Amino acid sequence: MDRIRLVGGNELHGEIPISGAKNAALPLMIASLLTREPLVLENVPRLADVTQLEKILENHGVDIAVHGRKSAALDGQRMTLQAAEIVDTTAPYELVSTMRASFWVIGPLLARAHEARVSLPGGCAIGTRPVDLFLYGLRELGAEIDIDEGYVVARAPKGGLRGARINFPKVTVGATHVIMMAATLARGTTIIENAAMEPEVTDVAECLVKMGAKISGIGTRTLTIEGVDELHGATHEVVADRIEAGTYAMAAAMTGGEVLLKNAKAIHLQAALDKLTAAGARVTSEANGIRIYRNGNGIQAVDVETDPFPGFATDLQAQFMGLMTMAQGVSHIRETIFENRFMHVAELARFGADIKVDGQLATVTGVPQLKGAQVMATDLRASVSLVIAGLAAKGETVVNRIYHLDRGFERLEDKLSAVGAEIERVTG
Ligand code: UD1
Repeated sequence: MDRIRLVGGNELHGEIPISGAKNAALPLMIASLLTREPLVLENVPRLADVTQLEKILENHGVDIAVHGRKSAALDGQRMTLQAAEIVDTTAPYELVSTMRASFWVIGPLLARAHEARVSLPGGCAIGTRPVDLFLYGLRELGAEIDIDEGYVVARAPKGGLRGARINFPKVTVGATHVIMMAATLARGTTIIENAAMEPEVTDVAECLVKMGAKISGIGTRTLTIEGVDELHGATHEVVADRIEAGTYAMAAAMTGGEVLLKNAKAIHLQAALDKLTAAGARVTSEANGIRIYRNGNGIQAVDVETDPFPGFATDLQAQFMGLMTMAQGVSHIRETIFENRFMHVAELARFGADIKVDGQLATVTGVPQLKGAQVMATDLRASVSLVIAGLAAKGETVVNRIYHLDRGFERLEDKLSAVGAEIERVTG
């Protein structure tokens, strides 16, 4: 199994190109199920989750062509997806269980084929992650839903889904994607209240509009979708990955140096950039990206609470905790989105970090110097917090079980070594 070996202590200097966002690319690929015409996506990242979703979509009858899959350049792939016919409305356990987002096919399948049989999802083990709000929304659109042997079996009413008012009791990115996609082909108007307004939701909404969907309120808490009879093909570029950008910003803050995060947009991660600034990094937004800089000054302890966008992203919590392990003083990190997202704490302790967890609250007392260690990747974002802690630690670090990293970070070791990190992948 692959590992990452790195030696800490180098400052990072240079440019890191930020890839297309995994969390936008996956629902955009799924949106191809909504039309018989080709959907062309530019800037699709090369990630294991993307390849896995290709398999799932091909099983439903989507024809997929990828341009640039093997390219050594760090630009994204161009992917053409065409679902001329939906040949199978079942998403089987073997394909769905490794990736939660694959459950989202349920929305487009129901909307276009009027039925879906989708395995309950897997994905990162960061809490119970129920699907009740997806089912609530789909039922409101008129679907009849049963759970049968681990599968959600859903049927649209005669004539297809119908528009409805859906008020989510809590903000959910996944269910907002699914209901928004399903509603594009429903009869009548759907209003989603308390919708997620993450940049990836906005990106998908903008692509759906290019495909002929009628959506207003994009980027706000209330989405209004007027159903149309059919959608058509379109070309869309995947938005830059704010989580990848935030991760490298934290890496640069930890090691010191100066890095330009090319293509990243500050408004997509302002909450995290504000915390980095408070911690002592210098952050400037430029025309072609975000520049992050820290000279010899120490890192200050800063408290953080995760929240739906525009708040501090749960997907950056582990990395920020990594940074706080070497801050001057005590910081408090509260996770409000998931109940089990502190699995990186035990691994960070192996670097000599001082972290105490009480329920959803972690208290981090900074130490003057982390020391390299053998650590184990547990989930996607936790894994990368171990890499960035290793970059700042003294001596050698080996991160085991890195398949989690390959799910979400494109060419991590190439990007980091290009800016001066001593890092390599060890195969086998
Ligand atoms: C969440 C994050 C997203 C992140 C992703 C991967 C938020 C709001 N969402 O998205 O930014 O990229 O994790 O780490 O920060 N929930 C239910 N019932 C449901 C659906 C969700 O109770 O049917 C709960 C979840 O358990 C969670 C919260 O609602 O506590 C947010 O869920 P949701 O946004 O759907 O999760 P993801 O789409 O995985």
